[in-house]
Amino acid sequence: MTSPAPGTAGTWPTDRRVTIRDLHAATARGERWAMLTSYDALTAGLFEEAGVPALLVGDSAGMVVHGHDTTVRVTVDELVPLAAAVVRGTSTVMVVADLPFGSYQAGPAQALATATRFLKEAGAHAVKLEGGSAVLAQVEALVDAGVPVMGHLGLTPQSVHVLSGLRRVQGRGEEGDHLLEDAVALERAGAFAIVLESVPAELGGRVSDKLTIPTVGIGAGPDTDAQILVWQDLAGLTPGRLPRFVKPYADLRGVLGDAVRTYVGEVAAGSYPDADHSY
Ligand code: KIV
Repeated sequence: MTSPAPGTAGTWPTDRRVTIRDLHAATARGERWAMLTSYDALTAGLFEEAGVPALLVGDSAGMVVHGHDTTVRVTVDELVPLAAAVVRGTSTVMVVADLPFGSYQAGPAQALATATRFLKEAGAHAVKLEGGSAVLAQVEALVDAGVPVMGHLGLTPQSVHVLSGLRRVQGRGEEGDHLLEDAVALERAGAFAIVLESVPAELGGRVSDKLTIPTVGIGAGPDTDAQILVWQDLAGLTPGRLPRFVKPYADLRGVLGDAVRTYVGEVAAGSYPDADHSY
């Protein structure tokens, strides 16, 4: 059974989880699909209801949930319970879990051990890892073992210290040709999709044209097959200056702040709880 996702041309299953085949078929039909990050059961269920076919339990949780200043410090132990909550809070989306920094770079055996935790302990359906030629052996080993892998190229936040910050657009000039080669290599290694982060729109389109697997853009222009955003950015909850690609679709920070200020004021004034909200 499938139903149209509100606001999209796509149809997603309503009686089972979205599979890689569903995502590939949507892309083959020329349909654009949207991913979001998610870190808890409540929002995961809401995003599923709103028509998002795949959720990423991103290592961005290190920053937006755990309060670290980069994604580098988040651990597998911190992410596994969040992935488990997202799986429990949903019934039809595909849940992709990020492999955090230091949990797969040492080699295929380490990558497989970490991915196994996400699939067995959290019930995730796929994993994502950052990098190109340096992680091909890991991607191959995971896919051989039956673990679907999403790649991640362009701005790879786990390399923040090598990149000297997270603001620079990646893949300009010759760097773009190398990124394209990495994308092709990841597809050959068995990745089922690739996130492209903070790259020129032209490169986003070029990589998408070249690959058969879907590209999932975040700051990669309009021509990737899918898009992903950190949900707090989409909702206008994240404070401060945000990257240019972020479009806040709501002002959750304002709405929530107003609600809490009103509550605090009513408690102070003794007008909450009133008779209607008391037993
Ligand atoms: O961790 C994350 O949230 C991500 C995406 C935004 C792609 O990797």
